[in-house]
Amino acid sequence: MLKVALIGYGYWGPNVAKQLYKNKNYIFDIICDLKENRLEKAKELYANSLKYTTNYLSVIKDPEIDLIALAVETRNHYKLAKEALLAGKNIYVEKPFTDDVKQAEELKKIALEKGLYIHVDHIMVYHPAIKKIKEIMSSGDLGDVLYFSCYRQNLGNVKNDVNAMWDLSVHDLSIIDYLTDGENVKYVKAVGEKAYSTKESITFLSVQYETFIANMTANWISPIKERKIIIAGTRKMLVYDDVDVINKLIIYDKGFDKMPIKDMEYDEFVVKSRIGDAVIPKLEQEDALYNSLDHIRKCIEEKRESQTNADAAIRVIRILELANQDIGEGGMKFQLRN
Ligand SMILES: NC(=O)c1ccc[n+]([C@@H]2O[C@H](COP(=O)([O-])OP(=O)(O)OC[C@H]3O[C@@H](n4cnc5c(N)ncnc54)[C@H](O)[C@@H]3O)[C@@H](O)[C@H]2O)c1
Repeated sequence: MLKVALIGYGYWGPNVAKQLYKNKNYIFDIICDLKENRLEKAKELYANSLKYTTNYLSVIKDPEIDLIALAVETRNHYKLAKEALLAGKNIYVEKPFTDDVKQAEELKKIALEKGLYIHVDHIMVYHPAIKKIKEIMSSGDLGDVLYFSCYRQNLGNVKNDVNAMWDLSVHDLSIIDYLTDGENVKYVKAVGEKAYSTKESITFLSVQYETFIANMTANWISPIKERKIIIAGTRKMLVYDDVDVINKLIIYDKGFDKMPIKDMEYDEFVVKSRIGDAVIPKLEQEDALYNSLDHIRKCIEEKRESQTNADAAIRVIRILELANQDIGEGGMKFQLRN
């Protein structure tokens, strides 16, 4: 059985620990955090069933550990992931993989050379609603995708090591990447505003993919909580609302039909709107984080790549890196007429 250690027990680490503890196909061995007070919190829950340390190097160098799960701040991902890989460990890294594409590529190269596995927790890829949407899209039910419109906003969790887009839109980018089998990107545009942080707390990111467009709002300064994705296809449309506890996913038989105009000499048509049924598909009661952690366990045991390996993660952070540049450069100057 795989032996796993968790490094980072801040805000998100406890969730990772909970799912690791629940998974009886892992030997969950040790929790590490630099802060003693965080370890005290962990001990209240897991007492003597786990080991605890503030020394991450002792964890990385422990010959018995097969997999290191990293739930440290994004700015520390690269350093710890590199040390773990060089010590011969498979790694599970929280999203976003790193804050720099070159560093991510270096980690991928080390893993390849050493025959190790990298799994990035693009958690939504392992969510039952997203798995259902993948099924629906693969069946052709939506038709050709026209656009994705994504909203992630709430009041809080303002970060200083990454901006809102790297923190939140990373979920939407990973969802789109998964649902469209890594569709190519043509253009990236973004604007952002800094408030209450040295990084942008509000970002609007637009991506022109090869065959559709996507727009993503990421906002830490919103009066309401929103986690919503609208996907419009040429046949049907759907709304995935993660905040709605009852109707999380609704598929609408709505759209436009092209009707040929009778007795016209040329191939002319009118566009007529179509409003049919709305369907609420049944979703599996699964925990996405549990699934994500279990996925990398199976991948290591069966010696196969994770669905969200370094390649998938690099495709996502490449878009974020380009978007950061666009925010920095400020886009096209708007000329006021005199
Ligand atoms: N998958 C998700 O939905 C999701 C949600 C929230 C956060 N995250 C990700 O989880 C990661 C952690 O975010 P957070 O909000 O929990 O951060 P946080 O700052 O609350 O916690 C990070 C913890 O890591 C510890 N740490 C840092 N360096 C360490 C080291 N060398 N050795 C031991 N401990 C160390 C810190 O002491 C701290 O307790 C981020 O990458 C974030 O993007 C993912």
